[in-house]
Amino acid sequence: MTSSQPAPPPPASGARGSAPTSVLDLAPVIPVVVVQDAADAVPLARALVDGGLPAIEVTLRTPAALDAIRAVADGVPDAIVGAGTVTRPEHVAAAVAAGAQFLVSPGWTPALLDAMRESGVPFLPGVSTTSEVVALLERGVTDMKFFPAEAAGGTAYLKSLAGPLPQARFCPTGGIGVATAPSYLALPNVACVGGSWMLPEAEVRAGAWDRVEALAREAAALATAR
Ligand code: 3PG
Repeated sequence: MTSSQPAPPPPASGARGSAPTSVLDLAPVIPVVVVQDAADAVPLARALVDGGLPAIEVTLRTPAALDAIRAVADGVPDAIVGAGTVTRPEHVAAAVAAGAQFLVSPGWTPALLDAMRESGVPFLPGVSTTSEVVALLERGVTDMKFFPAEAAGGTAYLKSLAGPLPQARFCPTGGIGVATAPSYLALPNVACVGGSWMLPEAEVRAGAWDRVEALAREAAALATAR
């Protein structure tokens, strides 16, 4: 820990009280959504929730993202909507103001971590190297996103981390699909997986929400089968 750390870290990565303290405990599969048109947000979220995937990460990668988060927070009360691709401290307040109930970043800096910590909602900072994991553990954060999972070493890399750093828990995302998700979910240090495989671009563009719901159901079944 550096002397600039404002306060001792909370015991887990995120919020307090009886609400889930960690993004990792929200759901075993977290869909990662890139919303091009905010008008798609509610039917898309409805399809995911009806398919059994209630925790939804809307990435801050498009101009429609904050409106999409707002629309889901207002219009799909049984969804747990969060913001992903949180890469700058100022994203945190904007996302929470829009209704984000959790925050996910692909990587972290001390300033971004401080902002996420102060947000009051569960957060998941991203790592792809051992040193980044160690630096988060040093700051009292045990729960992390492993990104980009497939490109950064996949299940073999995560398996290798479990020996020296058993206290770290991960949500791998990036390049994971329906065929590979089970091998991640089988690892002792993996609590959930994230991905966009249940949201094929063509289906979303066509508004094929029944198809999205079917893919969500298939993804949710992977988790119950583990
Ligand atoms: C993410 O931001 O977590 C990833 O882009 C999701 O990865 P995928 O689109 O390869 O599933």
